[in-house]
Amino acid sequence: MTSLYGVIGNPITHSRSPQMHNRWFAEEGIDGQYFPFDIEPGRLEEAVRGMKALNIAGWNVTIPFKEAIMPLLDQVDDDAIKIGAVNTVKNCKGRLVGSNTDGAGFAASLLEKRTTEDIKQSSILIIGAGGAAKGIYYALTKLTPASITVANRTEERAVSLIQSIITPVKAQAVTIQECEKLLSSYDIVINTSSVGMFPHTERLPIHVSGLKNNALAADIIYNPLETAFLKEAKKCKADTLNGVGMFVHQGAMSFNQWTGTRPDTVKAISRITEELGGPSC
Ligand code: ATR
Repeated sequence: MTSLYGVIGNPITHSRSPQMHNRWFAEEGIDGQYFPFDIEPGRLEEAVRGMKALNIAGWNVTIPFKEAIMPLLDQVDDDAIKIGAVNTVKNCKGRLVGSNTDGAGFAASLLEKRTTEDIKQSSILIIGAGGAAKGIYYALTKLTPASITVANRTEERAVSLIQSIITPVKAQAVTIQECEKLLSSYDIVINTSSVGMFPHTERLPIHVSGLKNNALAADIIYNPLETAFLKEAKKCKADTLNGVGMFVHQGAMSFNQWTGTRPDTVKAISRITEELGGPSC
């Protein structure tokens, strides 16, 4: 019998996950189907009960349900508890188990641009302090970089992000203005904020003129493929990484949990990059 999978969110119509996972099922010869489910915010509990009753084998969770779904699951793994958000649910014979592949997906994408040794010696700046930033911060602490700085429009959120995760890595919270002044000291700068996302594509999360030559500028946004932040960073001779890699790797990690199979991420990154209308940044 065909195993059913999906993604729950609101809105969900623009999600590229169904296309990606359904291609992987076909490529890997697995009898599975992946559907988008648009759930009204007040009906999450009902939806989860329904998915359990229908024996949906696994699903992704996106905005605005990544935190709200946690108490509705039978088990949440340690990483997702520390991050405070779930993006993957696996139905283990009726027991719903939650995990989070967002941060690890970003780390896998970063490791296609920098070695673990490079990262150990890097000073990293994370711009933004929301859910995505927290997952990425947590995953990066495991790679033990020289330091991690978090800058956010609302500075208190950056402070509380750093306080919420215990790590031996040197970490600090700064204002956007402070990080702009210190910009030449960072080797890797990651935009996790939504600034620059379609339709406000001209917006910049920070002024990048002080960026170090050969620094890596990474954005988790993939619509547009090349954000204003990445465009400006290129002008400063920085290396760049767009959000497609994180999207593909987080999905591949979910797929692997559900099926025990590792899909071809290289092919998926180039296909999605093509579909989004350009060569990889
Ligand atoms: P996600 O789960 O995608 O990270 P989120 O938790 O809503 O979403 O976080 C969005 C991030 O983008 C936050 O860091 C937010 O900054 P604030 O904490 O100050 O709200 C940042 N962000 C969103 N819109 C912004 C804007 N116009 N200018 C600066 N930062 C913005």
